[in-house]
Amino acid sequence: MTEDKTQFNQWYEEDSDTDQLLRDAVANSEEQHNELSLRPQFLREYIGQEALKEELAVYISAAKQREEALDHVLLFGPPGLGKTTLAMIIANEMNVNIKTTSGPAIEKPGDLVALLNELEPGDILFIDEIHRVPTNIEEIMYSAMEDYFVDIMVGQGPTARPVHFPLPPFTLIGATTRPGMLSKPLRDRFGIINSLQYYTPEELQQIVVRTADIFKAPIKPAGAYEISLRSRGTPRIANRLLKRVRDFAQVQGKEAIDKSIVTIGLDKLRVDNKGLDETDHKLLETMIEYYKGGPVGLNTIAANIGEEAETIEAMVEPYLLQIGFLQRTPRGRVVTESGYNHLGHAYQREL
Ligand code: ADE
Repeated sequence: MTEDKTQFNQWYEEDSDTDQLLRDAVANSEEQHNELSLRPQFLREYIGQEALKEELAVYISAAKQREEALDHVLLFGPPGLGKTTLAMIIANEMNVNIKTTSGPAIEKPGDLVALLNELEPGDILFIDEIHRVPTNIEEIMYSAMEDYFVDIMVGQGPTARPVHFPLPPFTLIGATTRPGMLSKPLRDRFGIINSLQYYTPEELQQIVVRTADIFKAPIKPAGAYEISLRSRGTPRIANRLLKRVRDFAQVQGKEAIDKSIVTIGLDKLRVDNKGLDETDHKLLETMIEYYKGGPVGLNTIAANIGEEAETIEAMVEPYLLQIGFLQRTPRGRVVTESGYNHLGHAYQREL
Protein backbone atom coordinates (compact mmCIF):
# COMPACT_ATOMS: atom_id res chain seq x y z
CA MET A 1 0.00 0.00 0.00
CA THR A 2 2.71 2.46 1.06
CA GLU A 3 4.86 1.39 -1.87
CA ASP A 4 1.93 1.83 -4.18
CA LYS A 5 1.36 5.29 -2.81
CA THR A 6 4.98 6.32 -3.33
CA GLN A 7 5.01 4.85 -6.79
CA PHE A 8 1.85 6.67 -7.67
CA ASN A 9 2.98 9.99 -6.24
CA GLN A 10 6.24 9.88 -8.21
CA TRP A 11 4.44 9.15 -11.42
CA TYR A 12 1.66 11.62 -10.83
CA GLU A 13 3.97 14.49 -9.97
CA GLU A 14 5.91 13.90 -13.19
CA ASP A 15 2.77 13.51 -15.20
CA SER A 16 0.64 16.40 -14.13
CA ASP A 17 0.36 19.76 -12.54
CA THR A 18 -0.64 18.76 -9.03
CA ASP A 19 -0.94 22.37 -7.90
CA GLN A 20 -3.48 23.03 -10.60
CA LEU A 21 -5.47 20.00 -9.49
CA LEU A 22 -5.45 21.24 -5.94
CA ARG A 23 -6.54 24.67 -7.07
CA ASP A 24 -9.34 23.11 -9.08
CA ALA A 25 -10.33 20.95 -6.16
CA VAL A 26 -10.85 23.94 -3.94
CA ALA A 27 -12.03 26.24 -6.72
CA ASN A 28 -15.44 27.14 -5.49
CA SER A 29 -17.23 30.30 -6.43
CA GLU A 30 -16.77 33.21 -4.06
CA GLU A 31 -20.35 32.76 -3.00
CA GLN A 32 -19.74 29.16 -1.97
CA HIS A 33 -16.58 30.22 -0.17
CA ASN A 34 -18.51 32.87 1.76
CA GLU A 35 -21.07 30.27 2.62
CA LEU A 36 -18.43 28.20 4.42
CA SER A 37 -18.59 30.21 7.61
CA LEU A 38 -22.39 30.10 7.57
CA ARG A 39 -22.68 26.38 7.12
CA PRO A 40 -24.07 24.36 10.00
CA GLN A 41 -21.50 21.81 11.17
CA PHE A 42 -23.75 19.09 12.62
CA LEU A 43 -27.14 17.59 11.80
CA ARG A 44 -28.72 19.13 14.89
CA GLU A 45 -27.88 22.63 13.61
CA TYR A 46 -29.19 21.94 10.13
CA ILE A 47 -32.65 23.36 9.49
CA GLY A 48 -35.11 21.56 7.19
CA GLN A 49 -34.84 18.35 5.09
CA GLU A 50 -36.28 16.55 8.13
CA ALA A 51 -36.87 13.14 6.51
CA LEU A 52 -33.41 13.08 4.98
CA LYS A 53 -31.74 14.11 8.25
CA GLU A 54 -33.59 11.40 10.15
CA GLU A 55 -32.48 8.74 7.67
CA LEU A 56 -28.89 9.93 7.60
CA ALA A 57 -28.72 9.97 11.40
CA VAL A 58 -29.63 6.25 11.43
CA TYR A 59 -27.10 5.28 8.74
CA ILE A 60 -24.38 7.34 10.41
CA SER A 61 -24.87 5.84 13.87
CA ALA A 62 -25.12 2.31 12.46
CA ALA A 63 -21.88 2.73 10.50
CA LYS A 64 -20.17 4.22 13.55
CA GLN A 65 -21.34 1.35 15.78
CA ARG A 66 -19.95 -1.16 13.28
CA GLU A 67 -16.80 0.92 12.86
CA GLU A 68 -17.26 0.80 9.11
CA ALA A 69 -17.16 3.41 6.39
CA LEU A 70 -20.59 4.82 5.62
CA ASP A 71 -22.13 3.46 2.44
CA HIS A 72 -21.74 5.67 -0.66
CA VAL A 73 -24.23 8.54 -0.73
CA LEU A 74 -25.81 10.26 -3.73
CA LEU A 75 -27.54 13.60 -3.05
CA PHE A 76 -29.52 15.27 -5.77
CA GLY A 77 -31.66 18.35 -6.11
CA PRO A 78 -31.59 21.92 -7.38
CA PRO A 79 -28.56 24.11 -6.63
CA GLY A 80 -28.23 25.92 -3.30
CA LEU A 81 -30.29 23.52 -1.17
CA GLY A 82 -27.35 22.26 0.91
CA LYS A 83 -25.85 19.18 -0.74
CA THR A 84 -22.28 20.26 -0.02
CA THR A 85 -23.21 21.34 3.49
CA LEU A 86 -24.71 17.92 4.18
CA ALA A 87 -21.60 16.17 2.86
CA MET A 88 -19.49 18.20 5.30
CA ILE A 89 -21.90 17.48 8.12
CA ILE A 90 -21.72 13.75 7.38
CA ALA A 91 -17.91 13.97 7.65
CA ASN A 92 -18.18 15.79 10.99
CA GLU A 93 -20.76 13.35 12.34
CA MET A 94 -18.66 10.36 11.21
CA ASN A 95 -15.55 12.04 12.58
CA VAL A 96 -13.58 11.54 9.36
CA ASN A 97 -11.77 13.74 6.83
CA ILE A 98 -13.45 14.94 3.68
CA LYS A 99 -11.76 15.71 0.35
CA THR A 100 -13.77 17.85 -2.01
CA THR A 101 -13.68 18.01 -5.77
CA SER A 102 -16.06 18.33 -8.68
CA GLY A 103 -16.84 16.28 -11.78
CA PRO A 104 -15.23 18.64 -14.30
CA ALA A 105 -12.03 18.97 -12.20
CA ILE A 106 -11.31 15.25 -12.65
CA GLU A 107 -9.92 15.24 -16.16
CA LYS A 108 -7.87 12.06 -16.24
CA PRO A 109 -7.66 8.78 -14.32
CA GLY A 110 -4.60 10.00 -12.41
CA ASP A 111 -6.60 12.94 -11.01
CA LEU A 112 -9.07 10.56 -9.42
CA VAL A 113 -6.37 8.22 -8.14
CA ALA A 114 -4.51 11.21 -6.64
CA LEU A 115 -7.60 12.03 -4.60
CA LEU A 116 -8.29 8.42 -3.60
CA ASN A 117 -4.64 7.94 -2.69
CA GLU A 118 -4.87 10.54 0.06
CA LEU A 119 -7.80 8.90 1.84
CA GLU A 120 -7.50 7.27 5.25
CA PRO A 121 -9.87 4.44 6.18
CA GLY A 122 -13.42 5.77 6.57
CA ASP A 123 -12.67 9.12 4.89
CA ILE A 124 -15.06 10.81 2.49
CA LEU A 125 -14.47 11.86 -1.09
CA PHE A 126 -17.06 14.43 -2.10
CA ILE A 127 -17.62 14.91 -5.83
CA ASP A 128 -19.87 17.82 -6.68
CA GLU A 129 -21.54 17.81 -10.11
CA ILE A 130 -20.79 14.11 -10.30
CA HIS A 131 -22.78 13.86 -13.55
CA ARG A 132 -19.89 15.69 -15.23
CA VAL A 133 -17.23 13.07 -14.41
CA PRO A 134 -15.85 11.87 -17.78
CA THR A 135 -17.03 8.39 -18.81
CA ASN A 136 -13.57 6.74 -18.77
CA ILE A 137 -13.08 7.91 -15.18
CA GLU A 138 -16.56 6.85 -14.17
CA GLU A 139 -15.56 3.32 -15.13
CA ILE A 140 -12.58 3.43 -12.76
CA MET A 141 -14.92 4.54 -10.01
CA TYR A 142 -16.92 1.32 -10.22
CA SER A 143 -14.20 -0.91 -8.72
CA ALA A 144 -13.13 1.84 -6.32
CA MET A 145 -16.65 2.06 -4.93
CA GLU A 146 -17.49 -1.61 -4.97
CA ASP A 147 -14.25 -3.34 -4.03
CA TYR A 148 -11.89 -0.55 -2.96
CA PHE A 149 -9.28 -0.86 -5.68
CA VAL A 150 -8.40 0.78 -8.96
CA ASP A 151 -6.49 -0.62 -11.92
CA ILE A 152 -4.96 2.07 -14.10
CA MET A 153 -2.20 2.41 -16.66
CA VAL A 154 0.77 4.30 -15.27
CA GLY A 155 3.40 5.99 -17.45
CA GLN A 156 3.31 6.67 -21.14
CA GLY A 157 4.33 5.02 -24.39
CA PRO A 158 6.57 1.95 -24.13
CA THR A 159 6.96 2.33 -20.34
CA ALA A 160 3.20 2.30 -19.74
CA ARG A 161 2.15 -0.52 -17.40
CA PRO A 162 -0.97 -1.51 -15.52
CA VAL A 163 -0.89 -0.86 -11.79
CA HIS A 164 -3.27 -2.19 -9.17
CA PHE A 165 -3.96 0.22 -6.31
CA PRO A 166 -5.74 -1.14 -3.26
CA LEU A 167 -7.71 1.56 -1.46
CA PRO A 168 -8.89 1.91 2.12
CA PRO A 169 -12.62 1.56 2.73
CA PHE A 170 -13.99 5.03 2.01
CA THR A 171 -17.28 6.79 1.33
CA LEU A 172 -18.00 8.53 -1.93
CA ILE A 173 -20.57 11.30 -1.62
CA GLY A 174 -21.78 12.47 -5.00
CA ALA A 175 -23.93 15.55 -5.53
CA THR A 176 -25.82 16.39 -8.67
CA THR A 177 -28.48 18.70 -9.98
CA ARG A 178 -29.03 16.26 -12.86
CA PRO A 179 -29.52 12.70 -11.51
CA GLY A 180 -30.92 11.59 -14.88
CA MET A 181 -27.52 12.16 -16.44
CA LEU A 182 -25.83 9.57 -14.23
CA SER A 183 -25.29 6.18 -15.82
CA LYS A 184 -27.16 3.27 -14.26
CA PRO A 185 -24.00 1.38 -13.22
CA LEU A 186 -22.78 4.43 -11.32
CA ARG A 187 -26.15 5.11 -9.72
CA ASP A 188 -26.42 1.46 -8.68
CA ARG A 189 -23.21 1.70 -6.68
CA PHE A 190 -24.65 4.23 -4.24
CA GLY A 191 -26.28 2.58 -1.22
CA ILE A 192 -27.96 5.78 -0.04
CA ILE A 193 -29.74 7.85 -2.69
CA ASN A 194 -31.73 10.86 -1.60
CA SER A 195 -33.07 14.11 -2.95
CA LEU A 196 -33.15 17.50 -1.27
CA GLN A 197 -36.45 19.36 -1.39
CA TYR A 198 -37.17 23.08 -1.59
CA TYR A 199 -37.48 24.60 1.89
CA THR A 200 -40.73 25.92 3.31
CA PRO A 201 -40.93 29.68 4.05
CA GLU A 202 -40.90 28.86 7.78
CA GLU A 203 -37.69 26.83 7.45
CA LEU A 204 -36.07 29.56 5.36
CA GLN A 205 -37.15 32.13 7.93
CA GLN A 206 -35.28 30.16 10.61
CA ILE A 207 -32.23 29.94 8.36
CA VAL A 208 -32.30 33.70 7.72
CA VAL A 209 -32.59 34.42 11.45
CA ARG A 210 -29.68 32.05 12.13
CA THR A 211 -27.51 33.70 9.47
CA ALA A 212 -28.43 37.22 10.63
CA ASP A 213 -27.40 36.14 14.10
CA ILE A 214 -23.99 35.03 12.78
CA PHE A 215 -23.67 38.43 11.04
CA LYS A 216 -24.79 40.15 14.26
CA ALA A 217 -27.44 41.93 12.17
CA PRO A 218 -30.67 42.51 14.12
CA ILE A 219 -33.68 41.28 12.17
CA LYS A 220 -37.44 41.30 12.82
CA PRO A 221 -39.37 38.04 12.31
CA ALA A 222 -41.51 39.68 9.59
CA GLY A 223 -38.35 40.89 7.82
CA ALA A 224 -36.90 37.38 7.85
CA TYR A 225 -40.20 35.96 6.64
CA GLU A 226 -40.38 38.42 3.74
CA ILE A 227 -36.88 37.39 2.65
CA SER A 228 -37.87 33.73 2.90
CA LEU A 229 -40.91 34.29 0.65
CA ARG A 230 -38.67 35.68 -2.05
CA SER A 231 -35.90 33.09 -1.89
CA ARG A 232 -37.29 30.40 -4.18
CA GLY A 233 -37.19 27.83 -1.39
CA THR A 234 -33.38 28.03 -1.47
CA PRO A 235 -31.09 28.83 1.51
CA ARG A 236 -28.25 30.07 -0.72
CA ILE A 237 -30.58 32.67 -2.22
CA ALA A 238 -32.05 33.57 1.19
CA ASN A 239 -28.58 34.20 2.60
CA ARG A 240 -27.56 36.23 -0.44
CA LEU A 241 -30.70 38.39 -0.25
CA LEU A 242 -30.14 38.84 3.47
CA LYS A 243 -26.66 40.23 2.79
CA ARG A 244 -27.98 42.75 0.26
CA VAL A 245 -30.89 43.79 2.47
CA ARG A 246 -28.50 44.22 5.38
CA ASP A 247 -26.63 46.78 3.22
CA PHE A 248 -29.83 48.74 2.55
CA ALA A 249 -30.74 48.66 6.26
CA GLN A 250 -27.28 49.85 7.26
CA VAL A 251 -27.13 52.71 4.76
CA GLN A 252 -30.61 53.85 5.74
CA GLY A 253 -29.65 53.77 9.41
CA LYS A 254 -32.22 51.12 10.34
CA GLU A 255 -31.73 49.51 13.72
CA ALA A 256 -33.15 46.22 12.55
CA ILE A 257 -34.01 44.58 9.24
CA ASP A 258 -37.78 44.85 9.07
CA LYS A 259 -40.36 44.04 6.42
CA SER A 260 -40.33 47.51 4.87
CA ILE A 261 -36.57 47.59 4.26
CA VAL A 262 -36.72 44.05 2.83
CA THR A 263 -39.42 45.15 0.40
CA ILE A 264 -37.48 48.26 -0.63
CA GLY A 265 -34.21 46.33 -1.04
CA LEU A 266 -35.64 43.41 -2.95
CA ASP A 267 -37.69 45.64 -5.24
CA LYS A 268 -34.45 47.44 -6.09
CA LEU A 269 -32.83 44.06 -6.77
CA ARG A 270 -35.80 43.26 -9.02
CA VAL A 271 -36.70 40.19 -7.04
CA ASP A 272 -40.49 40.01 -7.10
CA ASN A 273 -42.88 38.85 -4.36
CA LYS A 274 -42.55 35.22 -5.53
CA GLY A 275 -38.76 35.44 -5.68
CA LEU A 276 -38.65 35.55 -9.46
CA ASP A 277 -35.78 37.53 -10.93
CA GLU A 278 -35.13 39.04 -14.34
CA THR A 279 -34.22 35.74 -15.96
CA ASP A 280 -37.48 34.13 -14.82
CA HIS A 281 -39.45 37.11 -16.08
CA LYS A 282 -37.62 37.08 -19.40
CA LEU A 283 -38.31 33.38 -19.85
CA LEU A 284 -42.02 33.61 -19.05
CA GLU A 285 -42.52 36.87 -21.00
CA THR A 286 -40.76 35.44 -24.07
CA MET A 287 -42.90 32.32 -23.97
CA ILE A 288 -46.09 34.36 -23.63
CA GLU A 289 -45.27 37.07 -26.14
CA TYR A 290 -43.66 35.03 -28.90
CA TYR A 291 -45.08 31.53 -28.40
CA LYS A 292 -48.53 32.17 -26.93
CA GLY A 293 -47.38 30.53 -23.71
CA GLY A 294 -46.14 27.36 -25.46
CA PRO A 295 -45.70 24.50 -25.92
CA VAL A 296 -42.17 25.50 -26.81
CA GLY A 297 -38.95 23.46 -26.72
CA LEU A 298 -36.21 24.11 -24.19
CA ASN A 299 -33.59 24.87 -26.85
CA THR A 300 -35.84 27.44 -28.51
CA ILE A 301 -36.41 29.19 -25.19
CA ALA A 302 -32.68 29.08 -24.46
CA ALA A 303 -31.79 30.63 -27.83
CA ASN A 304 -34.40 33.36 -27.34
CA ILE A 305 -33.30 34.48 -23.91
CA GLY A 306 -29.56 33.97 -24.42
CA GLU A 307 -29.01 31.33 -21.72
CA GLU A 308 -27.63 27.81 -21.98
CA ALA A 309 -30.37 25.15 -22.16
CA GLU A 310 -28.56 23.26 -19.38
CA THR A 311 -28.60 26.33 -17.12
CA ILE A 312 -32.30 26.81 -17.67
CA GLU A 313 -33.01 23.16 -17.00
CA ALA A 314 -30.94 22.99 -13.83
CA MET A 315 -31.29 26.47 -12.34
CA VAL A 316 -34.28 28.36 -13.71
CA GLU A 317 -36.99 25.91 -14.62
CA PRO A 318 -37.17 23.69 -11.49
CA TYR A 319 -38.59 26.44 -9.31
CA LEU A 320 -41.03 27.65 -11.95
CA LEU A 321 -42.27 24.06 -12.26
CA GLN A 322 -42.43 23.70 -8.50
CA ILE A 323 -44.62 26.79 -8.01
CA GLY A 324 -46.79 25.79 -10.96
CA PHE A 325 -45.97 28.69 -13.31
CA LEU A 326 -44.57 26.31 -15.89
CA GLN A 327 -45.49 22.83 -17.01
CA ARG A 328 -43.55 20.25 -18.96
CA THR A 329 -45.49 18.49 -21.70
CA PRO A 330 -44.31 16.03 -24.35
CA ARG A 331 -44.47 18.89 -26.87
CA GLY A 332 -42.48 21.37 -24.78
CA ARG A 333 -42.82 23.83 -21.93
CA VAL A 334 -46.11 25.62 -21.28
CA VAL A 335 -46.85 28.69 -19.13
CA THR A 336 -49.76 27.93 -16.79
CA GLU A 337 -52.69 30.14 -15.91
CA SER A 338 -51.02 31.14 -12.62
CA GLY A 339 -47.90 32.03 -14.58
CA TYR A 340 -49.93 34.32 -16.82
CA ASN A 341 -51.70 35.86 -13.82
CA HIS A 342 -48.47 36.49 -11.96
CA LEU A 343 -47.08 38.41 -14.92
CA GLY A 344 -50.32 40.34 -15.33
CA HIS A 345 -51.22 38.84 -18.70
CA ALA A 346 -54.68 37.64 -19.70
CA TYR A 347 -54.58 33.84 -19.92
CA GLN A 348 -54.80 32.45 -23.42
CA ARG A 349 -55.64 28.79 -23.41
CA GLU A 350 -53.87 26.87 -26.16
CA LEU A 351 -56.43 25.52 -28.65
N1 ADE B 1 -27.54 27.76 6.12
C1 ADE B 1 -27.75 27.36 4.88
N2 ADE B 1 -28.55 26.28 4.85
C2 ADE B 1 -28.83 25.98 6.12
C3 ADE B 1 -29.64 24.98 6.74
N3 ADE B 1 -30.31 24.08 6.03
N4 ADE B 1 -29.70 24.98 8.07
C4 ADE B 1 -29.05 25.92 8.78
N5 ADE B 1 -28.30 26.87 8.25
C5 ADE B 1 -28.20 26.92 6.94
